Amino acid sequence: MNPQPPTTWVTVSAQATTACGQRLGALLQPGDVVALDGPLGAGKTQFVRGLAAGLGLDPGDVSSPTFVMMHEYEPDEADDAKTSCTLFHLDAYRIGGSDDLASLGFDAELRATGVSVVEWSARIDDALGPDVIHLALAHGPHDTRTLTLSARGRWAAQADTLLTTLTETRP
Ligand SMILES: Nc1ncnc2c1ncn2[C@@H]1O[C@H](COP(=O)(O)OP(=O)(O)OP(=O)(O)O)[C@@H](O)[C@H]1O
Ligand SMILES: [Mg+2]
Repeated sequence: MNPQPPTTWVTVSAQATTACGQRLGALLQPGDVVALDGPLGAGKTQFVRGLAAGLGLDPGDVSSPTFVMMHEYEPDEADDAKTSCTLFHLDAYRIGGSDDLASLGFDAELRATGVSVVEWSARIDDALGPDVIHLALAHGPHDTRTLTLSARGRWAAQADTLLTTLTETRP
């Protein structure tokens, strides 16, 4: 019997965390939701930069949405419309609850039009729908970070594929 792949792995640099995000982003479609948790500086925004790159968007546009709560990154003319899609980037650190989400206009209808990624997602977990790719990031020694995947809803059946994608290392 093949051993189950671990659901936890380590990245050794900011670039390695970005690369994980990029590989995941390349798999995603409009309507998909990625939830990120972990303390300040754990690398959530760093991961989102990779996610944006994987979606065909400019990672340089990504900044922490802590004060505006939601950024929307759209493909521009330079991006290939076939390979890019909108990314909604939320930071729930200051979001009180679903009332705040309604005022942001972040509902199921909007979610269906792009990929969504949420920092501090545990605060609004009940508003993210059943199908969620959840990653917990934690600080390790030096520049290492520990990432833990939990794939929920329809993603549960694809957890192995997600893990293989996220942890793939190129020679
Ligand atoms: N392995 C690593 N993965 C990710 N970031 C790393 C790693 N090693 C060092 N870093 C650095 O840690 C910082 C992570 O910052 P980032 O803004 O991504 O954190 P965050 O989790 O979004 O924090 P916040 O909750 O404040 O939004 C960056 O300065 C990045 O360069
Ligand atoms: Mg952040």
